[in-house]
Amino acid sequence: MKALITSGGRGTRLQPITHTQNKHLIPIANKPILHYAIEAAAEAGIQEIGILINADSREVPNAIGDGERWGIRITYIPQDAPLGLAHVVKISQDFIGDDPFIFYLGDNMVVGGVKRFIERFRADRCNCHLTLARVKDPSRFGVPELRDSKIVGVEEKPQRPKSDFAVAGIYIYDSTIFEAVNAIKPSARGELEISDAHQYLLEKGYEITYSEITGWWKDTGKPFDLLEANRLILENMPEDIRGAVNAGSQLAGKVIVEEGARIIDSNIRGPVIIGKNSEIRNCYIGPYTSIYHDTKIQNSEIEFSIIMDHCKITDVGIRIESSILGSDIEIIRAGDKPKTHRFILGAQSRLEIV
Ligand code: G1P
Repeated sequence: MKALITSGGRGTRLQPITHTQNKHLIPIANKPILHYAIEAAAEAGIQEIGILINADSREVPNAIGDGERWGIRITYIPQDAPLGLAHVVKISQDFIGDDPFIFYLGDNMVVGGVKRFIERFRADRCNCHLTLARVKDPSRFGVPELRDSKIVGVEEKPQRPKSDFAVAGIYIYDSTIFEAVNAIKPSARGELEISDAHQYLLEKGYEITYSEITGWWKDTGKPFDLLEANRLILENMPEDIRGAVNAGSQLAGKVIVEEGARIIDSNIRGPVIIGKNSEIRNCYIGPYTSIYHDTKIQNSEIEFSIIMDHCKITDVGIRIESSILGSDIEIIRAGDKPKTHRFILGAQSRLEIV
């Protein structure tokens, strides 16, 4: 079994964060999104992973490396243009060869790993195993039609969905998928749709089975949706204190303090993660907050937020909530006169003040 993981695209829906960072490298609970897919594959015993990258960028290979740290081998497969997910599978045929494989969309996250799906695929002896998640807005996804607990059709972003399930971005295939991706034609939006490949398999009488999943997340349009993914992951992480917590601090609920982090005279109410070498002094940090490495927060209150690396937050008089700060951002109290708010914000930044 091999794995194929996507990491391309422009991440336009997650701007401004993605102006300077590939969306797959955004940290969720202090880990780049892409790590979750790689770790899920490695944990399922997969040794060889192909990662699809934008042909014009080395950002992902530079950040992820050759896989050695996970004990696996990573091959990077460049994609010249965003021609669809079935196109991704098509150009990966040489890498996959005759092996079965898991196709994992790198911007999808699922709690509980993928081993169970691989086991189901093997036990079912099917050609394709899909993962389905119940969603409020199926028309944004690939949608299955179910009859007697069997998938009888799959449509991409249908106006009238035939079920309230989405086909999540974790698929397992044998090599018949290559027959499908080589046979289908581009859709109206000019892409080779993975849903059309699934429909092809069904029409040719190949066997598709599925697992229903919960705890699934995919970015759905707004940067604030990242907070939802962060909440989902933090909720499922075990407590772990490696850094230093002084006697004047109070920790409640699940709190993770990474190596080299210092919590001084602060009140932390989990689930919260504080990253390596970050310092929290005289603060309140509330539930569902991730603070990445090398960030310094002093005399401030933060809740339900993602604060990335090398930020500095000092003496902020109001609680920061539902916020996402990229790398190297400073929020400080203005000391001198005149008493005004002063902003230096890049393109598409968003600031809500009271
Ligand atoms: C893609 C697939 C869609 C699937 C979704 C899951 O959609 O085309 O079938 O349900 O991923 O993440 P896209 O992200 O291209 O909108």
